[in-house]
Amino acid sequence: MALYSEKVMDHFRNPRNVGVIEDADGVGEVGNAKCGDIMKIYLKIEDGIVLDVKFETFGCASAVASSSMATELIKGKPVSEALKLTNQAVAEALDGLPAYKMHCSVLAEEAIKNALEDYYKKHPEAREDAE
Ligand code: FES
Repeated sequence: MALYSEKVMDHFRNPRNVGVIEDADGVGEVGNAKCGDIMKIYLKIEDGIVLDVKFETFGCASAVASSSMATELIKGKPVSEALKLTNQAVAEALDGLPAYKMHCSVLAEEAIKNALEDYYKKHPEAREDAE
């Protein structure tokens, strides 16, 4: 059996939304101390919608595929939905990850949550709207 699903390989080879948003509304960065991989997420948010999202990932194939898939899952979605994105949902959308690679998808969930947290810090009024 192949180690990675075709979707993982596809998103690893042709990652979607790679890059930087210079005037991002929220930026989140997380790292995994054990493997040393780092993931950074940039969000452009308008009227409570994730208009654009980009990522930079310095990490393993699963981390790159997870960030790519995670950006696809939240692009164009309300912030409230992006906040609920779980690493399980990312892994499922990739048709699964090997068990010992699940932590790579956790990076994607955490990076997005950090970026949203950063967004709320910079735009406190948005948090009230969301509540
Ligand atoms: Fe570190 Fe995958 S091995 S994120």
